[in-house]
Amino acid sequence: MNILITGAAGFIGSNLAETLLADGHSVTAFDNFDPYYHPQIKEKNIRQALQHEKYRLFREDITDKQAVNRVFESSRFDVVVHLAAKAGVRPSIADPTGYYHTNITGTLNILEACRHSGVTRLVYASSSSVYGNNKKVPFSETDNVDFPVSPYAATKKANELMVYNYHHLFGLHAFGLRFFTVYGRRGRPDMSVYKFTRLIDQGKQVPVYGEGKPKRDFTYIDDILQGIRAAIDKVSGYEVFNLGESHTITVNRLVELIEQALGKKAEKIFLPMQPGDVMETYADISKAQKLLGYQPTTPIEEGVGKFVEWYRGNG
Ligand SMILES: NC(=O)c1ccc[n+]([C@@H]2O[C@H](COP(=O)([O-])OP(=O)(O)OC[C@H]3O[C@@H](n4cnc5c(N)ncnc54)[C@H](O)[C@@H]3O)[C@@H](O)[C@H]2O)c1
Repeated sequence: MNILITGAAGFIGSNLAETLLADGHSVTAFDNFDPYYHPQIKEKNIRQALQHEKYRLFREDITDKQAVNRVFESSRFDVVVHLAAKAGVRPSIADPTGYYHTNITGTLNILEACRHSGVTRLVYASSSSVYGNNKKVPFSETDNVDFPVSPYAATKKANELMVYNYHHLFGLHAFGLRFFTVYGRRGRPDMSVYKFTRLIDQGKQVPVYGEGKPKRDFTYIDDILQGIRAAIDKVSGYEVFNLGESHTITVNRLVELIEQALGKKAEKIFLPMQPGDVMETYADISKAQKLLGYQPTTPIEEGVGKFVEWYRGNG
């Protein structure tokens, strides 16, 4: 297949691009190398893929409608995987305008380009953050998600509504994937697994919010890739899916696992919960298991070890 990936230089996108190339697909990568974290990390992420003859890169911005149209005119895409976004919950509270611009206007440009260029299949990134502070766990796709607790979460919920509308009006086949705290090689340096590993390794203090009691369903990158590939193969109609490990641990437990993997002790400082943070994420993955054949295989105890191994050579 001929596949366009937006956000292709980022954590999930760059891993996905390599996997799809290895599967024999052609990949067009679209990324503006946003400075949210150091663009050099993204340059490194794509170095290997750039060598591949079936890989093309557009250094463009999804908020630039003309640029988006140029990319869509460059080829006829069988599937678009839309991952480009301003990610991260806490920074979205400082910069709602930037988040709404990229995540809403940018996504609208992608949808319009699909409509006008005749692309009929879209897989896009949503997030577990749409569940907000829902009390019922595990979170299921049928739960009410009308109460986002951060601008980031609101943009992801809005994306689901926008995409549904394009499905309804223009027959776009679309699967939305609610990722649950993804970690692994090339992980985002702002996220807990990477951040804690770096701080513990460097002997620096580790800020732990909410006394380390919040729980997260940490999902290993290879399991997420398995889910995205299944979604690409099967996308038809309109659905949203949880992609998590369906297992939840406290942040304190995560710190312990990283300590064990690094063989170093953390110096934790406990800080209050931050606005926008949620107490727990926990995915019910039965729908993805049933319709996508999604089957995560890397428990956090194993995945942290794999991440730390990668970090030692690349972090
Ligand atoms: N990593 C997670 O745990 C997680 C969880 C839930 C949802 N998601 C979603 O998955 C997607 C990928 O996340 P990630 O963790 O790989 O993040 P990432 O920041 O590593 O990747 C996102 C990429 O999008 C690019 N981008 C940002 N703004 C852009 C713009 N205006 N035009 C073109 N490209 C732009 C960035 O340069 C970056 O390379 C995002 O939509 C994110 O919201 C991630």
